[in-house]
Amino acid sequence: MKKTVLIIISLFVLTIMQAQTKLPVYLDDSKPIEQRIEDALSRMTLEEKVKMVHAQSKFSSAGVQRLGIPENWMSDGPHGIRAEVLWDEWNQAGWTNDSCMAFPALTCLAATWNPEMAALYGKSIGEEARYRNKNVLLGPGVNIYRTPLNGRNFEYMGEDPYLASRMVVPYVQGVQKNGVAACVKHFALNNQEVDRNLVNVTVDDRALYEIYLPAFKAAVMEGKAWSIMGSYNRYKGQWNCQNEYLLNDILRGEWGFDGAVVSDWGGVNNTEQAIYHGLDMEFGTWTNGLSEGKSNAYDDYYLADPFLDLLKSGKVNPEEIDKKVRNILRLVFRTNMDKNRPFGSFATPEHGLAARQIAEEGIVLLKNANNVLPIRLDATKKIAVIGENAIKMMTIGGGSSSLKAKYEISPLDGIKNKVGTAVHVEYARGYAGEKIAKQDGLTAADITDNRSPEELTAEACRVAKEADYVLFIGGLNKHDGQDSEGADRKELGLPYGQDQLISALAKVNKNVVVVILSGNAVAMPWINEVPAIVETWYLGSEAGNALANVLTGDVNPSGKLPFTFPVQLSDVGAHKLGDYPGKDYEETYHEGLFVGYRWNEKNKIKPLFPFGHGLSYTQFTYGKSVISAKSLPADGQLTLTVPVRNTGNKAGKEIVQLYIGDEKSSLVRPVKELKSFRKVDLAPGEEKNVAFTVSVDDLKFFDDTKHEWIAEPGKFTVYVGASSADIRSTVDFELK
Ligand code: GLC
Repeated sequence: MKKTVLIIISLFVLTIMQAQTKLPVYLDDSKPIEQRIEDALSRMTLEEKVKMVHAQSKFSSAGVQRLGIPENWMSDGPHGIRAEVLWDEWNQAGWTNDSCMAFPALTCLAATWNPEMAALYGKSIGEEARYRNKNVLLGPGVNIYRTPLNGRNFEYMGEDPYLASRMVVPYVQGVQKNGVAACVKHFALNNQEVDRNLVNVTVDDRALYEIYLPAFKAAVMEGKAWSIMGSYNRYKGQWNCQNEYLLNDILRGEWGFDGAVVSDWGGVNNTEQAIYHGLDMEFGTWTNGLSEGKSNAYDDYYLADPFLDLLKSGKVNPEEIDKKVRNILRLVFRTNMDKNRPFGSFATPEHGLAARQIAEEGIVLLKNANNVLPIRLDATKKIAVIGENAIKMMTIGGGSSSLKAKYEISPLDGIKNKVGTAVHVEYARGYAGEKIAKQDGLTAADITDNRSPEELTAEACRVAKEADYVLFIGGLNKHDGQDSEGADRKELGLPYGQDQLISALAKVNKNVVVVILSGNAVAMPWINEVPAIVETWYLGSEAGNALANVLTGDVNPSGKLPFTFPVQLSDVGAHKLGDYPGKDYEETYHEGLFVGYRWNEKNKIKPLFPFGHGLSYTQFTYGKSVISAKSLPADGQLTLTVPVRNTGNKAGKEIVQLYIGDEKSSLVRPVKELKSFRKVDLAPGEEKNVAFTVSVDDLKFFDDTKHEWIAEPGKFTVYVGASSADIRSTVDFELK
């Protein structure tokens, strides 16, 4: 009897186990992803495949309901998770559970020069995307800062390809650890908003490979980005969401990208090109497929019925659809169908702390004559806060990166919270720029003020006159024509008469601190009239707290500029050589490699503030750089050490920058280029030996005649400095 029971039980267990092993391969996450992809593909019908390669709603694309393969849900943007929208609308849907943490703009992240902050940023925003069940985050953006007029520079990481490369990789990795794909954008050469859907960019291969591609290449090859977004503009006459040179030849061919290529919204306009030029997922096409159009017309998309018809008629080989679906299934298995991925979290105190830390590390102290800053609260009775940007909501507006934030601490509130009742804080508007910021059906607080500039200036000067400190808080905002998607600025200067106001304030009080909120450089005609200037970016939910902590010295500023502040537009290559914003939708980047400090140094043009500039409340001295050998063997590495000491009485962080210049080269090269940096923590009096390694790769330039990166033997100079223009030591070496 016992024996029979035993046999029955083991038979039963065997059946269960067999049933288990019967799991279809695509559902069995013990199987390699590529095997699961092939299995899933083999089970899909042609119609199911075609549904997968185009949007089904504003921000989603179909899965396979029959097979239990989930849909793909995308969300903007690089600074936080966008509010939920209606199926086929841009406006928010009025949900009550989607108010997110607003993180600082990516110019601020770049200004931290701290890859750990990029990792923290990616982790935090990835957790928010995951919690909101989005498996693709439409960010980060890494387009190079070519002109200070570009409306979207605030979403990007500055003018230098090396800095942007070092900062984008940890962000991508942090996001993707949550089982959410980063979608690095806008690939490529989308360096302005004027005519962004039309302009055809012509640029030489050296500038393309040395300046405009590196951050995308790092995101793909080091960050292992799972998706990339094509850009609206054209390159070599092809629209970049259907561009064979960028998507087939470079992205897939040279970099081995195995993720999914997503179009920008409305970036596709031709079925054949979208099929054969490397696009995988078509989004946002004007919904009648041709122009602005009827709603819910997703079957009219270029990769929808038109594609299905071509496949069914045999005019297009089924392999073309399979290639795309493989890339999308790989995205799905890496995200929605990864059973081990975490569950995220949303708008938490931890994310608030992360936002504040990134903001505090990104704020840049540009000028601090006679150590006006930090504010000495114990010796202060009155602080005058002047300016619209002290009270204006900045999380709403600016285009697709606009957010419905859980909260936003304004600069004025941050300062008031900080100083408490000990100090009298009096606010005056100073200037009235915009009335109400609106975006996606979200409306910012109404700050309408109809008084005349004369009245506003008179009030501001009266409030400022008796104060111990005047904090002028101005800059740009995210309205059209300032820092905003879809339009560029028309000029370098500040809007709304701020320059005149700053000068008026400087006449009635010698302690005017100018705080600029912006994602771009601005002209400063009053620069010699004020003792202190702070660049404080768009800092998101924790803006006021971070700014107040820095202004009062609770945090010692350590940010440095990720782009040059020019004195005037004609000091910028894109403007000097006259091609920006292009003519008849044709634009040639005549300045080539010479973007930002590369242009300034080639042409010996002194900037207002140089790339890599940023002050501290303490001082740092640099000792002599010591190099491990005078010649670099072709296969080896050199180490360079430089002692850096904090000679002040406050702990601080210093960003030590290493640039390399090639004395003689067969092709023209910039005077020097950023090749490494270290952000070091130093206690008062502490000295650290900061070490760098230099390898042959750091010496290479892209030879467009050979289409390869080469290093030529000869003499090189290492420049070690506190900014691109503040070089503290140099040392030469040879490449044999
Ligand atoms: C926009 C932007 C892109 C954004 C997308 C979805 O036009 O160019 O950055 O992610 O459409 O909103």
